[in-house]
Amino acid sequence: MKGLLLAGGHGTRLRPLTFTGNKHMIPIANQPMLFYGLRHLAQAGIREVGIILGTVHEGIEEAIGDGRAFGLEVTYIHQGDPRGLADAVRCARSFLGDEPFVMYLGDNLLQQGALPFVDLYERDTPDAVVGATVVADPRSYGVVELGPDGSIVSISEKPAHPKSNLALIGVYLFTPAIHDVVAKLKPSARGEFEITDAIWALHGTGAKVAVQKVEGWWKDTGRPEDLLEANERVLRAFPRDQLKREGTVESGAEVRGGVALGLGTVVRAGARIHGPAVIGSGCEIGPGAYVGPATALGNRVKVVGASVRRSILLEGATISGPLEIVDSILGRESRVVAQEPARRISCILGDATMLRL
Ligand code: G1P
Repeated sequence: MKGLLLAGGHGTRLRPLTFTGNKHMIPIANQPMLFYGLRHLAQAGIREVGIILGTVHEGIEEAIGDGRAFGLEVTYIHQGDPRGLADAVRCARSFLGDEPFVMYLGDNLLQQGALPFVDLYERDTPDAVVGATVVADPRSYGVVELGPDGSIVSISEKPAHPKSNLALIGVYLFTPAIHDVVAKLKPSARGEFEITDAIWALHGTGAKVAVQKVEGWWKDTGRPEDLLEANERVLRAFPRDQLKREGTVESGAEVRGGVALGLGTVVRAGARIHGPAVIGSGCEIGPGAYVGPATALGNRVKVVGASVRRSILLEGATISGPLEIVDSILGRESRVVAQEPARRISCILGDATMLRL
């Protein structure tokens, strides 16, 4: 069994953050999003993983290397301009050979991981396994309709009038049978080679497509709000004993709840941190600062006299002054500097942005 992890795609809905970096490297609880998928592939017993790279891929190879740190052997496959998920399978054809594979979309976060897909495959030997879960509004996903016996009645990509509330999640298991249908696929109305169309075509050949109802939470991190929600969920689920406090907490500072503090981080007297929160290394949480629940601060972040809650601040970001930041994402080296009167803001700032209030 091989793994195929997709990290192409432009992440247009995450602009401005994705103007200067790959969306799959945006950190969730201070770990690049892509690491979660890699770990899930390793936990499912997979060793060889192909990572599909698009045109903006800076930092991915540097961070993952040959995959050894994850117990994996990683091969990089350049897709160029992304032309759909089925096109990624086509690009990976020679890497995949004639082995079954788990395809994992790098922008999906899935609590249960990929092991249940492999277990189902080994138990029932279907030709493909797709994951599905009930969502409130299925119109922005692939949608699968099931008959009373659980068999597939229809599958469609982002339908205007969904036939069910079961969305296809971004983890799939395929046997080599998928390659023939992918080779014959026509682009969809939005000009992409849709994996959903390939699955429907595979089903049409009489192949057995099993549906795995996913357990626990799932998030497609397409929009900033999704990133914040994923960040909160991961932080709330973090085992307390894995949260290392390597930084310094001065007397007169308050650190409460599950809080990780990186090396060289200083929490000054008069600062308060209420977890769950992760704070990287070399940070300064200054006097009068408050870091509230569901917050992840990257390395070298400074919070001086300001409050931040349910937010993600990337490396080198600074906030200072009479200011409360909530539900926000601040890019690398960005600065928000406030003066009286005190304000409460929510914002998405790209890298190296300066905001004076
Ligand atoms: C893709 C798939 C869609 C699936 C979704 C899950 O959509 O095309 O069928 O439901 O991933 O994340 P995208 O988010 O790439 O538009």
